[in-house]
Amino acid sequence: MIIALDGPAGSGKSTIAREVAQRLGLRYLDTGAMYRAVTLLALEAGLVPDRIGEAGALAAATPLRLEERENDLTRVFVGDREITDEIRGRPVTQNVSAVSADPAVRAVLTEKQREEAARGDVILEGRDMGTVVVPDADVKVFLTASIEERARRRQLQLQAQGVTQSLEELIADITARDAYDSGRALAPLRMADDAIEIDTTGMTIDEVIGAVVALAGPKHGGESPAAANGAPASAAGGATAPVAGLSPGSTPGDPRWGAKWPLCRMVRGPLDRWLYRFAYSFIPATVRFLWRMEISGVENVPRVGAVVVASNHRSNLDPFFLGSAFPRQIHFMAKAELWSFKPLGWVIDKLGTFPVNRGEADRKAVRNALDVLGAGAVLGLFPEGHRHRETDLGEIRAGVTMFSLREGVTTIPVLMRGTDRVVRNRLPHFPRVRVVFGPPVEVPSAGLPRSERTALAAERLIAAFQDLLSATSREK
Ligand code: DC
Repeated sequence: MIIALDGPAGSGKSTIAREVAQRLGLRYLDTGAMYRAVTLLALEAGLVPDRIGEAGALAAATPLRLEERENDLTRVFVGDREITDEIRGRPVTQNVSAVSADPAVRAVLTEKQREEAARGDVILEGRDMGTVVVPDADVKVFLTASIEERARRRQLQLQAQGVTQSLEELIADITARDAYDSGRALAPLRMADDAIEIDTTGMTIDEVIGAVVALAGPKHGGESPAAANGAPASAAGGATAPVAGLSPGSTPGDPRWGAKWPLCRMVRGPLDRWLYRFAYSFIPATVRFLWRMEISGVENVPRVGAVVVASNHRSNLDPFFLGSAFPRQIHFMAKAELWSFKPLGWVIDKLGTFPVNRGEADRKAVRNALDVLGAGAVLGLFPEGHRHRETDLGEIRAGVTMFSLREGVTTIPVLMRGTDRVVRNRLPHFPRVRVVFGPPVEVPSAGLPRSERTALAAERLIAAFQDLLSATSREK
């Protein structure tokens, strides 16, 4: 079993990799520590910044040794000299991007990393594991997190080592390093097309570990992730942790756990990525601020894996508000009329929304919806079928449950209030917008007869909306 774990600085890779290695009985290789070690030696030899080209020879001649530690950063030695702490200091951190962009340094270290991988049963952590070093890895994960969260984590990590550094300084350092690591010509920080992206912002360490273990589960000697997590028979034989984000209907052994995320077919290329990042980082903060959005029940949302999000519908802008409140990208099924205004169609297309022709059996829309779930992503639906301006909730169409039934995934019911008042007489208004996520609606057992199963799914969904409605009416 080879796991490739990549991601930007401070995304939590080391912590996660170490723990996953322990639980699955794998070795762990911190490739960042290797680049840091070479950087320290290059600094000491006076090769930075003008003679970095000589650092490759230095790397090749250096007897570098890494020693894994159970609950701490990897120990690093050059011969008998220990450099574990020095390589985490600011001089190294500020220069490591420049040294690691050197082709000769990369060639030497990539070779060493491949040798380690060839011994098998290892989790390799870095920037280019999934794309360059072990492109055939059994599992590829790309961890991300917001820049603020990454800086906070780095600050805590440094504090534990007795180093104080301001959050502003750390944000500046990480931003610079991100830009350098992603922009370099050789082996840039990039998610492999077949990697699974996990945004760890707001997730607990245990949740992220659970998610990675779950991904490895089906490929790890057929062991289910639940067993890998907790059973004494597992290689790591250790602690129990919930498998995060696994909705009960979607067992981790499902093939969709090996599927692409995000959906490359829908979000692809630098412009799409830029649009996506913009839409999902700048817009949510602004929308939340302007409409004093009150969001509750986010803990009900699984952080990874396929899920359906079903919301009431009172305004054309509902997807916009729901997308801003939801911690993951939602692929909305939206009425095809929106595409008749070409610029709007282009943008929402890029953001992974897809059209449905209402009033007819739109097979393509159904296929797209199932594809979204099949890829382990989030499908957004409005089960009333059309907008209801005057009531909080119209009639729920039972047909919408077909997607969760077909794919065996849970549905998160969502009640939005206030969105019907954000545009009045074609002018924007700023009422308070409320978004409430309800507990996941489970899919009825696959053992039931089909008609009974469909009826039960609809019943559960309607009951979930009624619960949300009465809970929020009581609070009003
Ligand atoms: O993971 P880290 O912060 O310890 O990594 C230090 C630097 O090393 C990082 O800024 C980029 C570089 N690096 C790399 O270029 N390729 C890798 N596989 C790992 C790290």
